[in-house]
Amino acid sequence: LANGLASTPPMGWNSWNHFDCMIDEKIIKETADALVSTGLANIGYKYVNIDDCWAEISRDDKGALVPKNSTFPSGIKALADYVHTKGLKLGIYSDAGFYTCSKKMPGSLGHEEQDAKTFASWGIDYLKYDNCNNGGLRPTLRYPVMTRALMKAGRPIFFSLCEWGDMHPALWGYTVGNSWRTANDISDTWDSMVSRADQNEVYADFARPGGWNDPDMLEVGNGGMTKDEYIVHFSIWAISKAPLLIGCDVRNITKDTMEIIANKEVIAVNQDKLGVQAKKVRMEGDWEVWAGPLSHYRVAILLLNRGSWRTSITAHWDDIGIPSDTSVIARDLWEHKTLETRFVGNLTATVDSHACKMYVLKPIS
Ligand code: GLA
Repeated sequence: LANGLASTPPMGWNSWNHFDCMIDEKIIKETADALVSTGLANIGYKYVNIDDCWAEISRDDKGALVPKNSTFPSGIKALADYVHTKGLKLGIYSDAGFYTCSKKMPGSLGHEEQDAKTFASWGIDYLKYDNCNNGGLRPTLRYPVMTRALMKAGRPIFFSLCEWGDMHPALWGYTVGNSWRTANDISDTWDSMVSRADQNEVYADFARPGGWNDPDMLEVGNGGMTKDEYIVHFSIWAISKAPLLIGCDVRNITKDTMEIIANKEVIAVNQDKLGVQAKKVRMEGDWEVWAGPLSHYRVAILLLNRGSWRTSITAHWDDIGIPSDTSVIARDLWEHKTLETRFVGNLTATVDSHACKMYVLKPIS
């Protein structure tokens, strides 16, 4: 969407994966504090996004959305002011239907202009716009109405389409929003995570600066996967130029979780200014090679072992867009080491079950 935002994928936090509907202003403020104190804000995680369940079930007598008095008594504007003083941005959630997915608050269908103005007047920087209870109206009749309302609201607001991929939003999303979901809701398991990654990969050609494919928010740190599996999760999201929206409780974050989501080298791949989403370039049995170009003629690659046994995986230059006689320096982004070998033609590594290796390759001749 040509609103000047999303030149690289958005980074931040969202309440849904960990807190579901159990949110209040204290959690949001403490999360903003934690993003700053952990250093996550400094390395790019700027959006603090409130998901479903923040509003009263009824609008006020002028038709405006009302923050839920029992959980957000100070109102959303006060929260926006608070996160802005910390150098962060505030995101909110609504739905292109009559009610949101929880059915605990109204949607914005038919109220687009009023709601967009309300959000802008509160200082909102990001809107996630869901798809429940939509009366069977096509998404292309509902989402662009909010796009226009946001463009008129007088404040740049990142627009995240949450259509779940059914009507192939990658095909029409670029002029409507800054990101679009390509899959249904993620859950905190290996199978759920890799299947979202697969569904998202199909649309790789449609992602570019201004509009990104969204395989849903991160589960890293929520406890349902092993550390290696979370490393795979974060690596695929990064190389796929997916939004990096943390979904755990950053107020109580472990060292292992920090090691993953604060890996600056992996984040740099996600935020590379070329903005090209990686693709699967080779699949053999249980293993895959994913690759995508980066700025300065570099290439990011991911060697992924989906099987139950340790295996050796080879990336061939022919598959990843490097001339076969070119010599390459490889940087291992999880070991934080530049390998001493100069690779020509291919690179092979041993990869554990449900684990990956991620490299940036830099041609030297
Ligand atoms: C849908 C969305 C989720 C979340 C919930 C909230 O399921 O896909 O990401 O926002 O609604 O109810």
